[in-house]
Amino acid sequence: MAKVSPSILAADFANLERDIHKVSGAAMLHVDVMDGHFVPNISIGVPVVESIRKCTDMFLDVHLMISHPKQYAEQFCKAGADLVCFHLEAEDDVQETIGLIRSCGKKAAVSIKPQTPVEAVYPFVKDLDMVLVMTVEPGFGGQKFMPDMLDKVKALRAYAQNVNPALDIEVDGGINFETAPQAAAAGANVLVAGSCVFGAEEPGKVVEAFTAL
Ligand code: DX5
Ligand code: ZN
Repeated sequence: MAKVSPSILAADFANLERDIHKVSGAAMLHVDVMDGHFVPNISIGVPVVESIRKCTDMFLDVHLMISHPKQYAEQFCKAGADLVCFHLEAEDDVQETIGLIRSCGKKAAVSIKPQTPVEAVYPFVKDLDMVLVMTVEPGFGGQKFMPDMLDKVKALRAYAQNVNPALDIEVDGGINFETAPQAAAAGANVLVAGSCVFGAEEPGKVVEAFTAL
């Protein structure tokens, strides 16, 4: 069984509540925050997370693609995130940022971009709830899955077996009916999917299918 985290980046923001309810059977809801600086795109911020929190009880998996995550993490926790994921490459002190998220009573995750070696995250694995291995360059939905990232997922799953066997490993980018089973077989147990879910006639059915992996 996989945990599915539909990315609302592919939803209709003018009908966000309606679209969120279409995927209410998913384990999580993936919220992509982009600042136009860490990634070359701008999406949504704290006020939208607050509004989402008011319209669903779903577990909110907030993916910060922003510079200075340490400066903003607490605001996202207070807005209603259940998990805050920030990028290792964002250059804030990683251990301190994890501690800050934890001190808010929330789950903490770190994400790595495609060019970052997986070993870079190893020193933090024991203190994390989840690691997000990006399977596209962060910034845009609808991109093609990078199969080379599967080796990173396998290595991380093997490493975590000793230090943190409960670690969630999430993949994000280009997840569809072909790539989701590959990612699950490599050891990923949290699958983010945007266009494949919200582009479908029945998003809930896609969530069900991926959850069964
Ligand atoms: C990309 C975002 C993803 C994005 C995935 O930077 O982090 O969460 O929404 O979209 P798809 O599933 O369409 O690749
Ligand atoms: Zn994401």
